[in-house]
Amino acid sequence: MSLFASVEMAPDDPILGLVETFLADPRPDKVNLSIGVYHDEQGRIPLLETVREVELHLAQAAAARGYLPIDGLPAYNRLTQELLFGGRTDILAAGRVATAQTIGGSAALRVGADVLRQALGGHAKVALSNPSWGNHAVVFRAAGFTVDQYRYFDPASHGLNFAGMLEDLGRMERGSVVLLHACCHNPTGVDLDTAQWQQVIAVLDERGLLPFVDMAYQGFDQGLEPDARAVRLLADSPIPAFVVCNSYSKSFSLYGERVGALSVVGADREEATRLLSRIKQTIRSIYSSPATHGGALVAGVLGSAELRARWEAELGDMRSRIHAMRAGLVERLAARGAPQYAFINRQAGMFSYSGLSKAQVHRLRDEFAIYAVDNGRICLAALSRDKLDAVADAIAAVSA
Ligand SMILES: Cc1ncc(COP(=O)(O)O)c(C=O)c1O
Repeated sequence: MSLFASVEMAPDDPILGLVETFLADPRPDKVNLSIGVYHDEQGRIPLLETVREVELHLAQAAAARGYLPIDGLPAYNRLTQELLFGGRTDILAAGRVATAQTIGGSAALRVGADVLRQALGGHAKVALSNPSWGNHAVVFRAAGFTVDQYRYFDPASHGLNFAGMLEDLGRMERGSVVLLHACCHNPTGVDLDTAQWQQVIAVLDERGLLPFVDMAYQGFDQGLEPDARAVRLLADSPIPAFVVCNSYSKSFSLYGERVGALSVVGADREEATRLLSRIKQTIRSIYSSPATHGGALVAGVLGSAELRARWEAELGDMRSRIHAMRAGLVERLAARGAPQYAFINRQAGMFSYSGLSKAQVHRLRDEFAIYAVDNGRICLAALSRDKLDAVADAIAAVSA
């Protein structure tokens, strides 16, 4: 009898399972709006021109690939800090930020959660927005946290339940971790404005809560600077310690290269040094060091003024295309007697929490070969102009 005989099947990942069903669907006009990946007008994941240039350069240099340091490529970490904190150079000059290159934003979350779990000891608690990206709860539970929620999405307005959010944060136990989406909230597309961030940060400060910012979509809403406003406001606040996880999967269209970073801000240089030692210890115990290629691509683009400017333009093109898809869908839905979807224009980033019910999502899939997530999340970044009419027809039909 095998020692593994009693191992039960783990549940399927709900979104990845849907991809398999989509791929097996023989209908030629099928549309997949369930995934969180940007596609261009031709339905391809774009290879950015700036990334391609660095890639060609790397291929020509043909250098051997030794191990990176545990915390990754130094230039990558420095350039990441500049992108996250922008003009807030005081926090960087003071040596308060410990940054490590990670295997995508996902490893940044897990390593960050492990480090905090160790630092906070017995009763580590994290509050997630309701709803949040499904993996947040999975990662924090795996790291030993108790997972709680704060109110966030308001189904009636398809916007933010700000009063509920403040009330719930105001009730959290001192020392709890609060996970915040910096921009382009996944899955709702509902973000805070500057004044709301200021109020949230005041509550976090007053209650002694630890902000843990997840920024997976910097540049996908309004641009690199405005999308980082939460991080900048935290840097300017009296809160002495916070965490930022960021991912380049989307902004560099480098999903499979697994490029992200964990930055932990401490009260001073000495605290950041201790934190970095714990980050490195944690990474060493999981995957030892990050991969070379993706890090070299990002550092190659960000480290050249010319390439960085061109990358910002490429990022701007992706952003504009998503905005055009939002506007195009809203306009077509209104023309089909479904003006109630105007809120899609107010939501930000790749996703919209469309308000479609599970039954409507299933009808979209069964009758129209349009795939969305059961919770009603649709990915506008996976739409293209040639599919707008068909998608609007289908959503209007199931909404009638
Ligand atoms: C909110 C959020 N955080 C983190 C991640 C993980 O990013 P990565 O693919 O770089 O691991 C994602 C990816 O979809 C995300 O949506």
